[in-house]
Order: sequence, then structure tokens, then C-alpha cells
Amino acid sequence: MHQIEEILQKMTLAEKARLCTGATHWKTVAMPQYGVPSLVMADGTSGLRLQQGSEDKEENDLFENVMFFSFDSEEALARTIPSTCYPAGSALACSWNPELAREVGAAIAEECKAQGVGMLLGPGMNLRRHPLAGRGFEYYSEDPALSGEMAAGMVEGIQSGGVAACIKHFACNNADYKRTWIDSVVEPRALHEIYLAGFERAVRKARPCAVMGAYNKVNGVQACESEELLTHILREQWGFDGLVMSDWVAVKNSKEAFRAGLNFQMPPSKSCVDALVAGVKDGSIPAERLDESCRQILKLVLRYSKEGKERPQVDWQAHHQLARKAAAQCAVLLKNDGVLPLGPGVKKVAVLGNLAKKPQFNGTGCAAINARCPDIPFDELAALAAPGCQLQFAPGYTADYQTDPALLAEAAKVAAEAEVALVFAGAFLPPEDDDFNRKTMALEPATEALVEAVAAVQPNTVVLLYNGESVAMPWIDRVAGVLDLWFSGEGSGRAAAEIVWGLQNPSGRLPVTLPKRLEDTPAYLNFPGAGDSHFYCEGIYAGYRYYDKKRVEPLYPFGYGLSYTDFAYSEPQLSTRELALPGRVCFSCQVENTGSMAGAEVVQLYLRDRCSKLPRPERELKAFCRVELAPGEKKRVELWLDSRDFCYYDPACGWVADSGEFLLQVGPHSRDIRLEQRLQLVSDRAAPFAMTTDTHYTDLLEDPTARRVFYDYLVEKGLLLPEQIGPALDEHFKVIFWGMAQHLDSATGDRFTPAMAEELTEKINAALAAER
Ligand code: BGC
Repeated sequence: MHQIEEILQKMTLAEKARLCTGATHWKTVAMPQYGVPSLVMADGTSGLRLQQGSEDKEENDLFENVMFFSFDSEEALARTIPSTCYPAGSALACSWNPELAREVGAAIAEECKAQGVGMLLGPGMNLRRHPLAGRGFEYYSEDPALSGEMAAGMVEGIQSGGVAACIKHFACNNADYKRTWIDSVVEPRALHEIYLAGFERAVRKARPCAVMGAYNKVNGVQACESEELLTHILREQWGFDGLVMSDWVAVKNSKEAFRAGLNFQMPPSKSCVDALVAGVKDGSIPAERLDESCRQILKLVLRYSKEGKERPQVDWQAHHQLARKAAAQCAVLLKNDGVLPLGPGVKKVAVLGNLAKKPQFNGTGCAAINARCPDIPFDELAALAAPGCQLQFAPGYTADYQTDPALLAEAAKVAAEAEVALVFAGAFLPPEDDDFNRKTMALEPATEALVEAVAAVQPNTVVLLYNGESVAMPWIDRVAGVLDLWFSGEGSGRAAAEIVWGLQNPSGRLPVTLPKRLEDTPAYLNFPGAGDSHFYCEGIYAGYRYYDKKRVEPLYPFGYGLSYTDFAYSEPQLSTRELALPGRVCFSCQVENTGSMAGAEVVQLYLRDRCSKLPRPERELKAFCRVELAPGEKKRVELWLDSRDFCYYDPACGWVADSGEFLLQVGPHSRDIRLEQRLQLVSDRAAPFAMTTDTHYTDLLEDPTARRVFYDYLVEKGLLLPEQIGPALDEHFKVIFWGMAQHLDSATGDRFTPAMAEELTEKINAALAAER
């Protein structure tokens, strides 16, 4: 710290301004005169995405980079240094295993250090609000608790390896339509309870070094220029003490951005430097603001720059094994009519679809990884097949996913002659255009045609899916099994083979609800926006909160996933039946593997609030844990809830909880609650009652102090006799639909004046204030 202050004292205004934007597309400005090295940043949550030599490109090369460079081109991928491709965010979240995210994060950090990268621009952790959102595959879940926990695990892993993590995109970057000017219009409750809550959890728990502001606007203000988001919420409310940086070309007005609390604008921008210098000179940007930005940048660079540091050797073999392990934990078995796992008795298996030989396990754009060592599903299936089992391959569709009748017919013939057909299908992002969202939930049509053709001739058809976001499954009733591999990285081929042959027990669970139809999804009517605004009309009812409240039957519910074994839940216990806040409560129960194969269960705890003043979802995920059990083994699982878990966000006063009954519900998914316990909450943070002349009697009479002052006043003014006061009078008042002032004015002739209404209101508020 002392060193940073010394450097700051020596720096000129121009130097300070220059430090606040990049030297190149991927590097901070070095200042050798002050002993300040440069820090290299690189993309990628599911691995390291670093383009060869790009970290050294100087400003002049930016034109080439920005104007002529497509992230998705073959050229881009070829220029990207090969690294281990781990599962994408939407896949990793299926593990419900923050510990796995931690391991993956630590491994990515090793690969970063080997390339001299000091900060990874990830993880991306926006909520998955709609299945067509173009970057949904990068993000974790439709639930903020699961997103926050997975992101926290990833951040801890990356940072434990000596590399800075940057969570992104803050905030409400939930669609990729008009991406840099769309205004995400979100009511305060939904903003805090849903869209910010995951970020908050990750910030408080894992203390990421950096947060990246999003491209979009939030409630009318550009995210990178929002003082509310960047300063009031992030720093003041959550205690974030790291670097706030922009997404690439997300700042429209540098002066506003730095005034709002941005510290670092990317990529390099001369107009940013000029605006900072001018702003400090004319006093519109306080000099201290600029100093604070430099402090944050210097803190990060001095700690995390890899310049001159030894580059470790990566144990690629170990990293590939980790990619396989992660992929296996991410695969979700959605349907199994008993066809899986394939036993030693199966002698003839058809493996269909080009994806079995050329898997697409990776997202696109800045999250695309040039996978170092992809496992080929067909090869892995063959390697693990029981002796004497014959595998027959047919491509089923062309290499670029076009239907070819001859290939389709050949695949159907191979399928009909086999005992089981494994069909590889998938859904991939559209090519780049002005709207990066997906256009449909359907599979690539040629892969879907293959599923249908094979299912028509082979009852034992198992579909293996590669997809970054939810897909429609109109063929679900015509197939015997579905294993969703998601974009689970270079180990997905091996993971699929191990699960198919029963060497691994699938344990992935859905981090989103799979809808039956796109029309059933919560944001269907408003996605991706109209004009330049995107209204989040479903409010707090995102994901399963919506399906549960509306009683909409999903295809597969949030938290769902099958196993080859069964789990029994028993002996629920609460550490207390009555919880006074602030405080914690533990729900524990016994989970037993009652089947014959080792497996992992994801125990999920949902909370149902039966006493809140504002409407709440049916149930909300608050805690979970993944537990591995040998056949017949039992373990006692503990799930903890703290004060905040009981709260909801009241737009009038912030986080509140009401005293009364809560249900703690535990089970294997959101629609299968096996155990339930009642808890009485004694809240210390109920929304404070505030009286206005328009307050209704229901609220007024519920607060004992307000009630006492109210009746005393009416007695004092001769409007009531003391003996008239009682529950019957309360009930009488409560059915009146006017507010207090209007009612008394009309009911008492001229005996209750507007001035008296004001006086009474003040008296009540004074009594309430004296009590606090
Ligand atoms: C993306 C970010 C990414 C940055 C640098 C932007 O277009 O939105 O996620 O980190 O580019 O590649």
C-alpha cells in the first residue's frame, strides 16, 4: 500500500489518466519509471482463451483487431493458444458442485500463469433468464443462489492459483439483442432478489479482484456509467474493494463512467484519457476519484502481473483428466427407460451422428476455447465397450449439419439392425449477426431429423445432446433415453462413454427449468425487448419461481436429473424450531444410497415463506450439497441458512423478513420435496411501518404503537369512547376501503379536519421513531 501511495505521488495527471485504460487490447500500461509492470488479461471461463501474440499488439493494430476480426472465425480459433477446454458455465452448473468449480478454476489459473496471464476475464455469471439468450451457455443458472455459489467456487479457484478473476457482466446482461444500447428495465425487487443476488453472493463470499460492467443499460442508465450499480450497490452495500472495469467498448461517456465509479476502461481509448485529464482539470471529476482508480489498478497489477515471473509447466495430462471428471459430473440423464447403462450382454450398438466423431462441446465468441485434447465420443465408446460388442457408426447428417436423405437412410438401417442406437444431436449458436440470440430452441434440424428417423425404427434409442442452452425435445416420448452433455468441454466424449457403459453414474442436475414449449417460459412475451427497451415483466418470477407460481408443467423441472441408483431421505432435524434473527439454522437429514451402484445425490433445500407481507415465490432454493454415497451407505447432510436467506427485498426499505412460519423443504429437485420442517421466525428486520394520511387501517391497526396512538387521539378529540375500542372496532375499520384521512373526513362531518389528519400522522410517526 505504501508503495502504491508513493507511486501515486510521483505520477503526473496525464500518466494517471493513461493508466486507466489499456495499453493494448489485452494489457495494462506499464510504467517502468515507477517499477510498474504490465498485466495481461485473457478471456474464458471454461478455459483460457488467449490469442497468439494478441497481448502484444499495439494500439495501431486495434483497427485490424476490431474492424476485421471475428471471434468465431476459423482464423480466430487457429490464433488461439490451445488450452484445456472445461465445461462451459451452463454445463458446469449442472454439477451443483462449487468444489468442482474451484478445482477447474485452479487448473485454469495454472494455464494462465504458463502463458503469463495475470487476470482471467471470467466467470460470466448473469442469470439465465431466457433459453434463447445468446450467451446463456456461458452463464450458470436461472437461480441466483446456485449461480452465486458456482461463481464463488470458480473465483476462489482462479485466485487461489495466483490469478485475478473478473466476474461479469454486471448487470442484467440477459440477452444479446441491441447489446450495447438495450435498456434492461427491471423493477427493484427483481433487480435485487434475482439479478444482483448472485453477484452479491460471489462478491461477499469469494472477493473477486475485479467486476466487469455490462454493455447494456439498466433502468435507463448505461451499466458502466451507473453510480447506483458501481458505487452504491457494489462498493457501499456489498463492500467490494477491487477493480471495476468496463466490458470491451461498453463505455459511452468516460467522464460519466469514472464519476460513477468505473476504474478502468477497455480496450485502449484515447478519448478516455483526454476526458479524464479534462475532467480533473475542470473539476468535473474529483482528483481523488482518479487516484482511487489508479490505486485499484496498481493494486491489481503489482500483485498479479506475471511479467518477469517464472512460468510453470502445466501438467496437461492431469488437466485433461480434470476436464473428463468435470464433464462426467455435468452430464444430466434426463430420461432412462432402463436402457442405460448398457450391460455386457449388449452386442451390437449403433453410434449415429457426425457429432460422435466431431463433437461440438464448446461455445462461441470470446468464450470459445481451442481445445487441446478433445476426446472423441465414438473412440471412447469403442475403447470402453465390453469384449465382443460391435459398434457401428453412421454419420446421419453432413459434417456441416445438413440433412442428406442417403445418410439418413443409412443411419436408420444401421439403427434397425442394432440392439441399441446412440444418436448424437445438438443445438449450436447462430452465426454472428446483429442479434446473437438463438432463434429457436429446436435442435439443428438435420440432427433432429436423425433422432426422429432412428426412433422410428429402434425402440432402444438413446439421444446424446450437445447444447449450450435448453433445447426442445418434441421426440421425447419416442426415445428410450436422453443424456444431456451440454457444452461440457474436451472430456465430454470420455464422460459420455463412461456413463453409457455404466462406469460412471450420472449425477448432473438441471440448473434451469426445461420448458415444454418456448411459449411457457417466463420472459416469453418480452424477450428480447421492444424498441430499445427490454422489460423484465415477470419480475421476481424468474425460472422455476414462475413455473411453480403459475402451475405450469415443465418438461423437466429445476434441479432434476436421474441416477443409476436410488436415494432415500429420512430423519429430518432442525437445529431450532424458533429462530430469532440475526441467527442461523441447520436442517439436517439422512440420505441413503438404496441402490446397487455408487452415486452422488444433490440435496436441495428450498424455503417457503408463509408470512411475508409482499408476495413471494412458492419456494426458493437457499442451500444445496452434493453427496457421494457407496451402495447402502448413509450420510447425514447439513444445510445451513442464515438471516439473509429469510429476507426479501422491499423496494421501500431494502432487505426485510417478517416474523412467522417458514417451511424448509428438502428433496432431489424443485418438484420433488421429500422432507419438510416448520420453523418460526422472530424477525429483527421487518419493514418499518410508516404512517401517511392515506394509510389503510389494516396496516395502521396491525402495528400496536400506531394503533394505540390512533385510538388515544380519537378519544382525546371526543370522536370515540374508550369502551368502544376493541377487536370488533378493529374489524369494522379494516373493511373500510378508504385511507384513514379520507374515511374520517367523510365519516365524522367536520369533526375530523385535514389538519388533524396531518397532526395524527405526525404523532404516530413520532411514537414509532421513539420506539426504534
Ligand atoms: C465480451 C466480454 C469479453 C470481452 C473481451 C466482450 O465483447 O462481452 O465477455 O471479456 O469482450 O473479449
